[in-house]
Amino acid sequence: MIAGRFLTLLSAVLASVRLGSADATSSLPRDVTSGLSRDVEERAADPCATIGGKTWVSPSDVRACYQSFPVNETEKANIIEVVNKTLAFHTSVNYEKLAPPPFTLDVHEDLLRDLARIQHQKYASDYDLHIDLSRTLKRLDDGHCVYINYCYDSLFVNYLPTPLVLLTDDAGHQSVHIAPEAFTVATAEFADEVQTWQDALPGALKGQLASLSGAKVLAINGQDPWIAVDANAAIAGSFQGLGTRQNGYFASYNAGAGGWTYSLGQFAQQSLPLSDSVRLTIQRVNSTKIETVSLPYRSRFGTTGTNFTDSASYRANNCVAGDSTNGVDYYAEPSSTTPVRREDAPSTAAVNPANKFRQAPMPDTATQRRYPMNVMLDSAPQLDIALPPTLVPTDPQPGSASVVQFYLLDDGKTGVLALGSFSGDSFENLETNLLTGLQGLKAKGATQLIVDVSNNGGGYICIAHWLHRIIAGPKSTTVPQAGLDTQTRDGPLAQLIVKAIAADPSLDPDEFLLYNPVAWTFANDTKMPAGYDWLQPPVKKTVNGVADAFSQRLGQECQPFDIDAPAEALFDTSKVAIVGNGRCASSCSLFSITLAKEEGAKTVVYGGKRDVPQQYCGTVGGQSTDFSTIDSEVKTTHLKNNSLAPPDFLTNSVQGITWRLGFGIDNKNEPEEWQNHPADVNLALTADIVSNPAAIWKKVAETVL
Ligand SMILES: *[C@@H]1O[C@H](CO)[C@@H](O)[C@H](O)[C@H]1NC(C)=O
Ligand SMILES: *[C@@H]1O[C@H](CO)[C@@H](O)[C@H](O)[C@H]1NC(C)=O
Ligand SMILES: *[C@@H]1O[C@H](CO)[C@@H](O)[C@H](O)[C@H]1NC(C)=O
Ligand SMILES: *[C@@H]1O[C@H](CO)[C@@H](O)[C@H](O)[C@H]1NC(C)=O
Ligand SMILES: *[C@@H]1O[C@H](CO)[C@@H](O)[C@H](O)[C@H]1NC(C)=O
Ligand SMILES: *[C@@H]1O[C@H](CO)[C@@H](O)[C@H](O)[C@H]1NC(C)=O
Repeated sequence: MIAGRFLTLLSAVLASVRLGSADATSSLPRDVTSGLSRDVEERAADPCATIGGKTWVSPSDVRACYQSFPVNETEKANIIEVVNKTLAFHTSVNYEKLAPPPFTLDVHEDLLRDLARIQHQKYASDYDLHIDLSRTLKRLDDGHCVYINYCYDSLFVNYLPTPLVLLTDDAGHQSVHIAPEAFTVATAEFADEVQTWQDALPGALKGQLASLSGAKVLAINGQDPWIAVDANAAIAGSFQGLGTRQNGYFASYNAGAGGWTYSLGQFAQQSLPLSDSVRLTIQRVNSTKIETVSLPYRSRFGTTGTNFTDSASYRANNCVAGDSTNGVDYYAEPSSTTPVRREDAPSTAAVNPANKFRQAPMPDTATQRRYPMNVMLDSAPQLDIALPPTLVPTDPQPGSASVVQFYLLDDGKTGVLALGSFSGDSFENLETNLLTGLQGLKAKGATQLIVDVSNNGGGYICIAHWLHRIIAGPKSTTVPQAGLDTQTRDGPLAQLIVKAIAADPSLDPDEFLLYNPVAWTFANDTKMPAGYDWLQPPVKKTVNGVADAFSQRLGQECQPFDIDAPAEALFDTSKVAIVGNGRCASSCSLFSITLAKEEGAKTVVYGGKRDVPQQYCGTVGGQSTDFSTIDSEVKTTHLKNNSLAPPDFLTNSVQGITWRLGFGIDNKNEPEEWQNHPADVNLALTADIVSNPAAIWKKVAETVL
């Protein structure tokens, strides 16, 4: 064990010397040979020095570093207090104690009880505390209300070179497979590490990683693969529906801001170093032999972290609250030590701390940040792993840019809009490109439309409204409200914030505050006046037996749009199909739900387990935000001293929330969040169409539209 560890260290040191990487020069003495043993001793004594400055490390070494820090009781109490007091602004705490059907079995988390439990529980390390906190929030299955700590989540990302897919054979049987494109993806993305996996394969398979692509997976760690899929679904969070969480285990794709991306799925990509290796019982393509291979997970330093060399620099650079962790008084005089996130001052603006974990590209200019957003958070940030070139759809049509891509299928009548997010480009570009592209498809003869929303985590709320409006035309369901009416939570501190703004509108002359009445409309869609205390009187409601309070019903704030929408529908909405892997959230849900429930569009989920109901979207929300933004509301209205106000985070943490919750379409007085969104079709993926957007669209055009 110790000898093995020494060899790993030694080879790591030698490898870094050989590669001449930056960390080698900084962490090794000039005379490498004489300094080596001293260096190894130092590293062994400091488990974080073992992984510091490295690109690829073993998950057990990452854990050894993470687990070397005991719980700091001050920080633990601080996290619990910030999270608990921030939850008073999350609309759904009491709903999530027990969701109505069809999600009763999925969502039943009593957050306040669990926070009290965590408060009294002892943990072997700070990392163990983090896992409990993170999973407690994930049990909400609500991608808006997520707890993230940059100290651990995706600081190192744990990878396998064998993403999985769920395939259906000619006889209609479903089985788990290593993705046919696995080796292509792995060699492109993990060029510097593939050899480790090649060398790990047993016997004659050594060096034959390519031959595993497409193999049927009969067992994972000796058990039916669905045991592993469901164990992951139980801790994955993000989506209410079991089917949607199962689908997250498998590989898929996304129309990314920088081109088509490949999503490895949660089998091949873990945000924490949970697994050291996996044992797969497989049958390779064209083989009758049953073989067993073990592959190590390898951890790569992620995109969200800051370099470190040892325990002290790891904690200092990654685990302590940064400039943007906490909110600011938007009108305080900027000082050199406290950068102000004033949305009109792009040069000094700090980036929202949640952005790296938002599952859609985020606007980075001040004007863009003022558009309300509804977007999912995940402890695994979206990566730019490339979809293999042979799988990338060809011949994009005019209007295509960034996350918006248009295609016309060979049948000449099916237009495709691949929409990877509802942000990722400027609001104005999205507005014009969506219109130009759809009009262009129509002009070329498209009479039906596929909208592919695979892994679309949301974005600008008003882009969802815009897309609904231009596809469906002007009608009672699109003008003026093309989305959902909403309500905020009407808690005691929220009431004080609104009271302060109403009493003194000069507190927020530039209208930055979420709670400023001038941003919102009454249920009849007319604007609220300045100075109006819109949280009075609270609308009292008993939710799961608990007395709760919400704001009055809010209407829409998107229309009139800043450019003209066409006077007629661009497509017959009964000839529109919304297609994806079910992982369509937030603003993507607002769009999909209104188009499906109000306009009769068809919904297609591809690749779902046959006997599990598939939701075409989830994590609906209405508008999402996070602790730092709420903290800015509190600080700007000078309420930070109030005992209800969350203190500043001491740690490098993020707490997301649903700030406005959309009302339902079928059941108008209850939230849409836990109403049913069953897909019309669960499209089987076969080996010839999996991970191939154009082939999937062709199948949808032939069988669904
Ligand atoms: C972090 O370390 C890597 C590898 O040593 C190096 O390439 C990179 O430039 C460093 N980044 C920063 C911000 O120091
Ligand atoms: C515990 O955390 C607090 C706040 O971050 C810090 O000031 C203190 O030094 C820490 N205590 C120990 C023993 O590390
Ligand atoms: C969380 O806040 C509630 C009030 O909303 C309070 O009753 C409870 O004691 C707090 N829990 C913890 C663990 O601080
Ligand atoms: C499997 O066999 C078929 C038919 O002979 C062949 O076309 C295909 O290339 C083979 N696939 C692999 C991975 O060997
Ligand atoms: C809209 O509703 C508000 C609040 O109920 C009311 O004061 C206002 O007169 C209404 N406006 C219209 C045009 O109906
Ligand atoms: C909090 O209260 C103290 C003492 O009254 C005061 O000096 C300070 O400015 C207050 N801070 C804020 C943010 O309101």
